[in-house]
Amino acid sequence: MDKLGVSIIGCGSIAQLSHFSSIDELPETELIATCDRDEKRAEEMAKKWKARGKWYKDYREMLEKEKMDIVIIATPQAYHHEQAIAAAEKGIHLFVEKPMTCTNKEAWEIVEAAEKAKVKLMIGCNQRFWSQHQIGKELIEKGVIGDIKMGRSSLHESWKLFPERLSFTDFRRRADEGASAALLEVAVHRIDLIRWLMGSEVKRVVGIAKRIASPKEYTLLDDAMWMIMEFENGSISAVSSDRFSPAVSNITEIYGTEGTMFLSSEATNPFQSVPIAIYSDKDYNWDELPDVMRKWFYPQTFWPDDFLAKPVPKRWISISPPREWSYSKMLKYFVECIQKDKEPELTSGRDGAKVIEIICAVFKSMETNSWVDLPLKEEVVPPQYKPYYKNRK
Ligand SMILES: NC(=O)c1ccc[n+]([C@@H]2O[C@H](COP(=O)([O-])OP(=O)(O)OC[C@H]3O[C@@H](n4cnc5c(N)ncnc54)[C@H](O)[C@@H]3O)[C@@H](O)[C@H]2O)c1
Repeated sequence: MDKLGVSIIGCGSIAQLSHFSSIDELPETELIATCDRDEKRAEEMAKKWKARGKWYKDYREMLEKEKMDIVIIATPQAYHHEQAIAAAEKGIHLFVEKPMTCTNKEAWEIVEAAEKAKVKLMIGCNQRFWSQHQIGKELIEKGVIGDIKMGRSSLHESWKLFPERLSFTDFRRRADEGASAALLEVAVHRIDLIRWLMGSEVKRVVGIAKRIASPKEYTLLDDAMWMIMEFENGSISAVSSDRFSPAVSNITEIYGTEGTMFLSSEATNPFQSVPIAIYSDKDYNWDELPDVMRKWFYPQTFWPDDFLAKPVPKRWISISPPREWSYSKMLKYFVECIQKDKEPELTSGRDGAKVIEIICAVFKSMETNSWVDLPLKEEVVPPQYKPYYKNRK
């Protein structure tokens, strides 16, 4: 089978940390062209990764001159909308980095453009591709912790990591290109994750996102956020993020009627010390436990005699699956979806747009001082982004 040609718009940190090497590793893909408004960076990447075509400063010229199957849009979020629509109109499959866009209206416009052009659309929510999150989802679906009633997810990632250590630009702290920091740039990952794990649509939202610690000379954007979601099936969840606390911290907790699950996508501190810890109140025999629990379970006693007991004694089990690179799994999955003509359910354009809608509902909730029902009836623009957005339209 012919390889799928992939081009990249935005050759900055995420492209260099993940997308170029993923294209290179996958036997089904080849790099066609690169584009960056910093032409030198586009040239350097095209040469380093042996692009078949050229490098470009202007994405429109690249879309015009090069033939490709997939475009990866890895520019700051303020540009995702125009670039995705232009590529969809050329019949190119779209891989759009998270956050999909800066407003709910723009997100749905990309979905419509992709559907009209009959191209696949996937959003770069790599959290769904960490093995522990996929195992967690599988165990939830197998009913190991009963009916899922509550969830909580947090991701705290300081400015020192992004943009200061890893980004090529300072867009993350700028209103014109980043639009919102803690909520749109960081929490987006966990809103997507919790919505997926809870397995229900969000009905209403209340939350806060504001600058509480960073000097205004550094940024005007929100550096902290908290939110609560109520789902259509009655369950509830919370998400929090910040950009000022120095240590990276992330944890997801899922509470069911018959158990609890803790997940950590990068177990980097003594508290979040294993990728999955799970407690089930069910009376399982050892051979009835889901395979994944027996396969990757790490024995906490040298001779685990008590596992031969029937049923298995109730206690916490930790699972440490092999560490896999979520980004290459994500591209592989997208390629499979294109080849088999199936919808990229992990994470589809519609999922991406629903997450942007939840984020916009938090801004609306701040404005109205109340719960906000979904779906939104109007376009909501992040407050700091409003003047730039207006000028652009
Ligand atoms: N999925 C993830 O885990 C993940 C991680 C990091 C970043 N991201 C997302 O990827 C996007 C890029 O982030 P980054 O960290 O790579 O940023 P970055 O600043 O390191 O790189 C952005 C690149 O885009 C280029 N660029 C900016 N505007 C452009 C335009 N209009 N046309 C062409 N090139 C343009 C810049 O010159 C730069 O090289 C953001 O939306 C970010 O949220 C996702």
